[in-house]
Amino acid sequence: DWTMAEFRDAKIAEIREQVGDGKVICGLSGGVDSAVAAVLIHEAIGEQLTCVFVDHGLMRAGEAEQVVSLFRGSYNIPLVHVNAETLFLKGLSGVTDPELKRKFIGKTFIDVFEDEAKKIGGADFLAQGTLYPDVIESVSFTGGPSVTIKSHHNVGGLPERMNMKLVEPLRELFKDEVRALGRELGLPEVFVGRHPFPGPGLAIRIPGEVSKDRCDILRKADAIYLEEIRAAGLYDAIWQAFAVLLPVRTVGVMGDGRTYDHVLALRAVTSTDGMTAEVFQFPGDFLARVATRIVNEVRGVNRVVYDYTSKPPGTIEWE
Ligand code: XMP
Repeated sequence: DWTMAEFRDAKIAEIREQVGDGKVICGLSGGVDSAVAAVLIHEAIGEQLTCVFVDHGLMRAGEAEQVVSLFRGSYNIPLVHVNAETLFLKGLSGVTDPELKRKFIGKTFIDVFEDEAKKIGGADFLAQGTLYPDVIESVSFTGGPSVTIKSHHNVGGLPERMNMKLVEPLRELFKDEVRALGRELGLPEVFVGRHPFPGPGLAIRIPGEVSKDRCDILRKADAIYLEEIRAAGLYDAIWQAFAVLLPVRTVGVMGDGRTYDHVLALRAVTSTDGMTAEVFQFPGDFLARVATRIVNEVRGVNRVVYDYTSKPPGTIEWE
């Protein structure tokens, strides 16, 4: 049986062996996996690594800032931060089909990443935070071996296009092991313990058309939900909790006036690898309290519902 410290040391040796004195570029998504991969690779080869964070503007509240300060501040890892919000939102305007959203975001991400990689003079290797379930799920999903349920957002295709080899030090690990490795590498607990977040970000939590306004509404509501979950001490008991902003509007009453605003759905599930999931049962009046806060504090939302669907038959994300 391996300890995480042994795994780390073995991987560091392996990365040095594979990379030699080559240059490595690593795309950060803002999530735990790519961050752990980057910090591990940095331990192995230091300045030979450059990180590129393509910020699509579809992150949760405060998330982009957290990634930038963690890498530049705490670890002193060279980081190119590209703010591409306008580019992504422009391209998403008028797009309502979930697969088209995913494909546009995936393609644009690669375009921007490739441009930035060229600007820094290219690299010999591309590092990715691919996990074991990603390896499995891209081959066969819970829906059957030949059906694509969702086009996953990754930088597939890029290595060949740019003539780069892959460095994927987390390929054998499950999520909980990646977290343990992150702790071993000294990443802060609030970062390491974070719930998974999909590559296409908030775009797939806004069924229908995505806009800056809708992203802002969703960010506010989602932040309140997560704040309450943390305050209740429930964050670590949940695999993923998030809000979904629906394109449906319903009638409400506020003070002595009529409102006609968006419905917001709350989701929380338990899971071990994301492949199957159970609905999380909140205690007592928790959900009622969150709903009241959201309707009172977030302009644009006047109704909150809870999603009671397990996976399967539902998926965790709505799109
Ligand atoms: P679903 O919605 O397919 O999600 O049940 C399973 C897990 O995968 C995450 N997810 C993604 N992660 N890129 C990612 O990196 C994606 O395109 C993507 N889509 C879904 C989802 O948040 C859940 O943890």
